[in-house]
Amino acid sequence: MKPVLSPLALSLTAAAVLTLAGTLPAHAGEVEVLHYWTSGGEAKSAAALKAQLEKQGDTWKDFAVAGGGGESAMTVLKSRVVSGNAPAAAQIKGPSIQEWAREGVLTNLDDTAKAEKWDTLLPPVVADVMKYKGKYVAVPVNVHRVNWLWANPEALKKAGAKLPTTWDEFFVAADKLKAAGIIPIAHGGQNWQDFTTFESVALGVGGAEFYKKALVQLDQATLTGATMKKTLETFKKVKTYTDKNAPGRDWNLATAMVIKGEAGMQLMGDWAKGEFVAAGKVPGKDFLCAAAPGTAKSFTFNVDSFAMFTVKGEGKIAAQKHLASAILSPEFQEVFNLNKGSIPVRLGMKMDKFDDCAKLSSADFVSTNKGGTLVPSIAHGMAVSSAAQGAIQDVVSQFWNTDKMTADEAVTKIAAAARTK
Ligand code: BGC
Repeated sequence: MKPVLSPLALSLTAAAVLTLAGTLPAHAGEVEVLHYWTSGGEAKSAAALKAQLEKQGDTWKDFAVAGGGGESAMTVLKSRVVSGNAPAAAQIKGPSIQEWAREGVLTNLDDTAKAEKWDTLLPPVVADVMKYKGKYVAVPVNVHRVNWLWANPEALKKAGAKLPTTWDEFFVAADKLKAAGIIPIAHGGQNWQDFTTFESVALGVGGAEFYKKALVQLDQATLTGATMKKTLETFKKVKTYTDKNAPGRDWNLATAMVIKGEAGMQLMGDWAKGEFVAAGKVPGKDFLCAAAPGTAKSFTFNVDSFAMFTVKGEGKIAAQKHLASAILSPEFQEVFNLNKGSIPVRLGMKMDKFDDCAKLSSADFVSTNKGGTLVPSIAHGMAVSSAAQGAIQDVVSQFWNTDKMTADEAVTKIAAAARTK
C-alpha cells in the first residue's frame, strides 16, 4: 500500500528537502580515510575530522591502522595501492608525498586550493611539501613540534629536581628522580620512539646547523664527525634512565607513566600533550612542557597531512574535495589542534583558546622560521627519503638496544645507511 501523507507532512517534507538542498554540497559521497590516530587524544582528533565531514553530508569510512608513527599504516597502504584499491585519503607526510605522487596515484587538488587560496593560508615551507610539480596533491592538518620534554611537577618536587634546560641538567634531574625511586624517563622501546629521542638529542647536542647538515642534507663529513659521536654517547646515556619494561611499549603508555607520576619525564612530540589533555590534566599545573634540553631556540617540525588518491565516481570525488576544504577551515583547525596537541597550520589563527605550550610552539614556529633554526623532523618523515630514514632509524635502534656496538661503529653504520637510495 502506498503511504498517504497529510498536507502538513507533505509541506514539512518539502521544506526539509529545500533546507537540505540549501546547506549541503551538491554531491555528497563517501571518503575512506587511512590514518593511525588510535590513542585517546588522537582518537578525539580523528573524531573531530569525521564530524566536520559528516556535517557536510558526506560519509566517513574509517581505515585506522594502529601503530605510533604510522609505520604499520604505511605498509598496509602500500598493499592497498598496489592492488588498485587506494583509499581516498591517507595520512602521509613530507617527502613521501612526493614519492607517492611520482607513482602517479595522487589526485590534483588545485581547483579547491585556488578557490580557497591555500597559497595565502599556508606557510610556504609547508605548502611546498604539499605540492608535486607545482600542484597540490595533499592538504596539511597541523604543525607538531617534536623537540619537547614533558614532566610531572609532583615527581620533580618529590625528587628535589628541576626541569632541565641542558643535557647536563637533564642527567642531574634524572639522577635525583632515580634516587627518589621514580623512573626518570618514560620510554617506549620501538624504533620510531628511539629515533624520536635520538633527533632531539642531536639537536640539543649539536644545534640546528649540525642537525641540518647531518640529518637533512646527510652530509658524510658531518655524519662521521665528533659531534655525531657525542650525540650517540649522550643518546645511549639517556637509555640508562629508562626502565626494564620499556621494550615494545606504546608511546601513549609511556605518557601515562608520566601522568601517574610513575615516571618523571618523557621526550616526545606534542601529540603527547593530547594524551595529558584527554586525561583531564592541565598544563603548568598537572604537567609541564619545555623544549627538549638544549633546543629552546630550535624547532623540529612534523606536519600531518592527507594525500588524496585518485578515486572513481562523482560522489567519491566530491566528498574527497569536501574533506580537503574542511581540513583548512578555521573552525576545524581550532577544534582539531586543541585535541591533538599541535598548532594550527593555517596562518593568522587566533590562539586564545590554546594553552601556554601551544602558544610557545606557535611563537617559536614563527621565530625559528625567521632565524633559520626551523628544521624538519627526520624521525617523523619530514627530512629525507623514506628509504634513508628507515635505514638510519634501524642503526639508531640497534645501537640503543645492544651494548655490543660502540659509538664509533654506530657512526660508521649511520653514515653508510645515509647513502641508501
Ligand atoms: C604523527 C602524529 C601521531 C604520532 C604518534 C607522528 O608521526 O605525526 O600525528 O600522533 O606520530 O602516532
